[in-house]
Amino acid sequence: MTLELELGELATEIAREAGALARARRRDGVRLAATKTTLADIVTDADREVEALIRERLRAARPDDGFLGEESGAEPGASGITWVVDPIDGTVNYAYGIPAYNVSIAAVQGEPDPETWVALAAAVNAPALGEIFTAARGHGAWLEGSRLAVTEETPAGALLGTGFGYDPATHEGDLATVARVMPMARDLRRMGAAALDLAYVAAGRLDGYFERGLRPWDHAAGALLITEAGGCVSRVDVESTRPMLVAGGRDVHARLLDILDPKH
Ligand code: IPD
Repeated sequence: MTLELELGELATEIAREAGALARARRRDGVRLAATKTTLADIVTDADREVEALIRERLRAARPDDGFLGEESGAEPGASGITWVVDPIDGTVNYAYGIPAYNVSIAAVQGEPDPETWVALAAAVNAPALGEIFTAARGHGAWLEGSRLAVTEETPAGALLGTGFGYDPATHEGDLATVARVMPMARDLRRMGAAALDLAYVAAGRLDGYFERGLRPWDHAAGALLITEAGGCVSRVDVESTRPMLVAGGRDVHARLLDILDPKH
């Protein structure tokens, strides 16, 4: 078995267990643990507990690997591989009882920097939706037994997903971006969980996606799902404090870049 497949199996197994824990804690009732960058940016007890479980399982299985998690930060490793983890992506959905949340786990090679890393394996588990999306570099992206493929044609316009940061000061700019993109859209979705948006692009449920200010754990796994499903992912405006992630099938991705990337 290749390293990529091995890491993919491990990511899937741990995402499955972590998803079950997140779902069980949701049933018990959600307790807000803290707010982070802004009042709207929350962390629940479950985020912390789920990340601790993932970290423990990874440490036991691959003690030399590094770790970069949304809640507990970074720990360098010695193997050249880092696990990039969002224990509960879509925390606000989770807190409100909306089922669009997920556990996102990726293994990347190289410095844990999205500009340079090479993603090797990914698992995005949406336990309340009963779906686990997986990918291993060079081996495709999968939803259970079905191989995923991005959409190639959008004759009625592109069904696009996006998201907004938690800082109210950024909303006006993000809405202006939406206005620029709408002429190429058939409609727009704002699901509230970036890794799931990306998984949906991989699965052909969305034609494209764009969002400013994503953190590495929001897109590490989802971006590999898309490239393994034949799509394209770019980070644009990387010098700014809020780079933009742009993703889609080849044609939609190129059209989004024409609108959103001044350097394109
Ligand atoms: C957030 C979600 C949301 C996106 C935000 C992310 P979190 O992740 O993915 O959809 O718009 O940019 O931060 O905080 O729920 O893990």
